[in-house]
Formats: sequence, structure tokens, C-alpha cells
Amino acid sequence: MNREIITFFDTTLRDGEQTPNVSLTDEQKLIIAKALEKLGVDVIEAGFPISSKGEFSAVKSIVDADLRTTTCGLARVVKPDIDACLDAGVGLIHVFASTSDVQLKYSMKKTRQEVYDLSVDAVEYVKDHGTKCLFSAMDATRTEMEFLLHVCRGVESAGADIINIPDTVGIMAPSRMYNFVKEIREFVKVPIDVHCHNDFGLAVANSLSAIEAGANQVQVTINGIGERAGNADLAQTAMSLSSIFGAKLNINTQYLLETSRLVERFTRINIPSTMPIVGENAFSHESGIHSRGVIERADTFEPGIMTPEMVGQRRRLVAGKHAGKHAVRQMLKDAHIDVDEEELTRIMGRVKEIGDKGRRVTDVDLYAIAEAVTNEVLKPAILLEELSVMTGNRVTPTATVKAVVEGKTKIGARVGVGPVDAAINAVHDILGATDVHLRTFRIDSISGGTDALADVVIGVEDSRGNLVTARAARGDIVIASVEAMISAINRLKARDGG
Ligand code: KIV
Ligand code: ZN
Repeated sequence: MNREIITFFDTTLRDGEQTPNVSLTDEQKLIIAKALEKLGVDVIEAGFPISSKGEFSAVKSIVDADLRTTTCGLARVVKPDIDACLDAGVGLIHVFASTSDVQLKYSMKKTRQEVYDLSVDAVEYVKDHGTKCLFSAMDATRTEMEFLLHVCRGVESAGADIINIPDTVGIMAPSRMYNFVKEIREFVKVPIDVHCHNDFGLAVANSLSAIEAGANQVQVTINGIGERAGNADLAQTAMSLSSIFGAKLNINTQYLLETSRLVERFTRINIPSTMPIVGENAFSHESGIHSRGVIERADTFEPGIMTPEMVGQRRRLVAGKHAGKHAVRQMLKDAHIDVDEEELTRIMGRVKEIGDKGRRVTDVDLYAIAEAVTNEVLKPAILLEELSVMTGNRVTPTATVKAVVEGKTKIGARVGVGPVDAAINAVHDILGATDVHLRTFRIDSISGGTDALADVVIGVEDSRGNLVTARAARGDIVIASVEAMISAINRLKARDGG
């Protein structure tokens, strides 16, 4: 393993934004760039300035924000692209050209010699302007090694500061990647960077192998977003490097969760609950044996070398048909609900009954069962009084919510992409500035027809990773959503002590 600091080149705003259906506003890009700076990435690839006026201005506004992190712009091996990067004022220019025969013939429509000359000239042009240069041999892993090394030698002599070896279509396996990068490592002197795509789910593993073979930098994205199946995920790469390999990084890992949530919200690409590091279940335990184990000592059923706190997460115990008494008692204790042994047995019976019916037991279900058993009812912080929505094909869906919040009547109104979105936004409006966010949202219909009950299960989370799940079933989908949302927020607030 490389003993130097392994640097992180984040391409969420460039390759990440190339994810189908993702388009970020300039403002969102700047917010993400600031979050990446706080996270401690070494380079932010802010975009491809030549591609449009909007892209140019987004890159420029990130440069103008004067972040501590180096801002990089992407360019093909042609002067107008490089000039656009120079005009935007980036600190690093990333020039790229295809080197594999398939891309040379059908994409670039150039010969090997032509692409070699263009690459060398492009690097020289960047260096003549006194700017740092990263060169990418696109589709390197499908390029004949002799030609790849020839290009590497050429761009290195032309002054490239760092050479990137992209696995553009994600066809490498870890052992092949190791040997591939090792051969290049023995040949080039400048630092080596890798950019692995995830077509076979191996992007992180291949990046790690490249580092083991002597690469110095990894290109990654938040939540692994990017072209097709995406790029190597930043959180997984960083935690594997630091916790498993003991590598030194500049990443402030405690911000991994909040950065992931931010990008999830802006891109609207939901990450699965089982996603390593940042997924809802990454540190959750339901089964009796596991929960009891982690209550005694966390590393019984967690890696130990990586704790939830290290990545900004919280350990969660989950009620359900596999749950044991220890976990349920602990969950109630965390929610400030005291129960005796007999009450706990009755609560467990109810929880298992629901679980056996194949239903998810949300946190609020558990608290409601406990309240019914103990006769101690929570005084909710928010009481819904009125909800009205306006929707149709000629109006923007708009919702108004009236509620009593901590004793004061508040009215919130917001628009949304649909009536449910508008209503949830209106709930946020009455809360004012809050760090509570909707984390998960699922609607199922109970029974068939148009009069079916909408069964809504919602998860709300605060910025410290505290998550509460709640359910509501109603004939009206909007009312069910708002009720579930408010009961989850009430519980989150009660858990916080108000
Ligand atoms: O996948 C790729 O090869 C790229 C290059 C521009 C580095 O995104
Ligand atoms: Zn890529």
C-alpha cells in the first residue's frame, strides 16, 4: 500500500452530473462544491466549461467562491476547450483523449498517431499557460499496453502533472487492475490517478487494487453517481482505504453522511437502504442475536474498524419479527419510554404479531404499541388542524397546512411537483428552519379499487443521522402522507428531548 497521502479527485459535478436525468442548478452545484470542500476532497471537477454557457458559468462561480480545494475543468485535446477552462480560471485542467482502438475508430475517428500528437500538443498548451494539467487516456483499460505507455511517455514529457488511467466501461477485475496499473507505475514517474466505472459493480474494488499497485489518486463521486452504473463511490473508497488499508487521506469522514444526503436530495437519485456506509441500514440491527450483541459491544456485529460515528451515522435498532427484548427495551429507552418486564412482554407480542403478518413495524408503530400498553401518551409537539390542497392540469399543485406547533398556531403554504410533494413542503414551511428531512417515502395501496386505503411509510432524519419511521393509512393519500410525516417529526422531537 502506498504510504503517501492518497488524494481524492471528486467528479460528482462532472461525471456525476452526466448521470441520466440528473441536472443540477448553478446554486446547487455551488452548495455541493462547498460541501465537498468541507469533506476535504483534494480536487473538485466542477464541469466541462466548453459544453454550454450555463456549464461555463457554473464552473466560474465555483472558481470565484475561492475554495481551499483545487477546482478542475474538463477539456478535450483541442484549444477552444482548454481556452474555456483557462477563461473560467480553474487551477487544474483535465484534458482527455481516447486511446483504445474501438474509440479511436468509431468515436474520435482519428488514428493513433493523430491522437498522440493532439494529446501532446494539448498538454504543452496547458503548461505554456502556467496551469496544472491532468491527462486522461480514455478507455485506457481497453488500450493496447504498448500504445498506452507511448502516450503516457509523450504527455509526461510534455509536462503533464498527473496521468489518469480510466476504466471507462468498467471491465476490469481487481487482480487485472493491479497488474495493469503496476506496469504503468513502473514506467511513468508522475503521480497516477484512476477513474473506475461501476458496470460490474467493481469500481471501488478496482480503485483499491490500483492504489495497492502504486496509484496516488482516485476519482470518485458522492453516492457513486455517474455515467451508466456510475463511478467509484467516494464514501466506500475512503472508508476502505482508511479503515481496511490504513491509508492516509485528507477526507473528513464524519461528513460523509451529510454530503451523501445533500447529493441524494439534489439529484433525486435515492440510495438503497443497504448502501454501504451511508445507507439507512448500514448500521441498523433487527435480529435479536445481533441487536443484543451490539448493545453489549458494538464490534460483535459491526466491523469495529469503522463505527457509525466515524461517518456521521447513528447505530439503529429496528423493531420487527426478528427483534429481541433487549433491542426493543433499548429502543423504548432511547425514546424516553419506560416499561416494566410485563409491559415489555406484551409489547413484544404485538410487535411479532405485526411482523408475522409481513408488515414493517415502524418506530412510531412501536411507540404507539408501548403507549397503548402503558397508558402513557406522548404530548405531540405538532398537532395538525387543517390541510387543503389544490391540484389539476392547469394549476401548480399547492398545499396549505394549519397546525399547532409547540402551542402556537402556524400556517404554511407551498407548491410542489404534485399534491403530496406540496403538502410535505407545506409541513416544512410551518417548521421553519429545521434540520429535519424526509428520508424515505413509500406508498402502498391496501386492497384494489380507487377507494383503496393508501398505506404511507415515511422516514424522517435529522442532520445527526437520527431516523424515525412512521406509518399512516387513509383513504386520502395526501392526508396519510402528512399524518405520517407529522407523527415521525413528533417522535424525532420527543427523542431529542423537545
Ligand atoms: O470515463 C471516462 O473515461 C471519463 C474520462 C473523461 C476521464 O469520464
Ligand atoms: Zn467517466
